[in-house]
Amino acid sequence: MGLIWTNKLSVGNAIIDSEHRNLISMVKDVSHGIKARDGSALSQAFKLLEYWLCVHFVNEAKIAQAVKFPFEQHKLAQQHSLKELQYMRDELTAKDGMWSDGAVNHFNRSLKNWMIDGHIIKLDMLMKPALQNYDYNFWPD
Ligand SMILES: [Fe+2]
Repeated sequence: MGLIWTNKLSVGNAIIDSEHRNLISMVKDVSHGIKARDGSALSQAFKLLEYWLCVHFVNEAKIAQAVKFPFEQHKLAQQHSLKELQYMRDELTAKDGMWSDGAVNHFNRSLKNWMIDGHIIKLDMLMKPALQNYDYNFWPD
């Protein structure tokens, strides 16, 4: 599976799904910055991604609490996931555009795994059974 949102990645909530689509598009921008070996585009793209990822984490916590999904473990995993992203950012910015072809492939694979496999499939899918007890457009007031 590539860096693309499909129905298979739906976790059963419209807000979360739409944020995931946006995050995937931001991860793609990071990926393009790497491929273009453009350090400043890359750091801009990382800034946006990190900002919206944190907003997303807060929204997920709010929804999880409302649907009574136990969120402690999830929250730790989110923090770990943010650290992983920041680690990749630091590794990349340290070499400011001077990435070998191998490094470009490595980071693009890692980013895709981080977003699709790590964040959506392994982590947020755990919320799906709880979310499916509610309307797809559910948002806590
Ligand atoms: Fe998420």
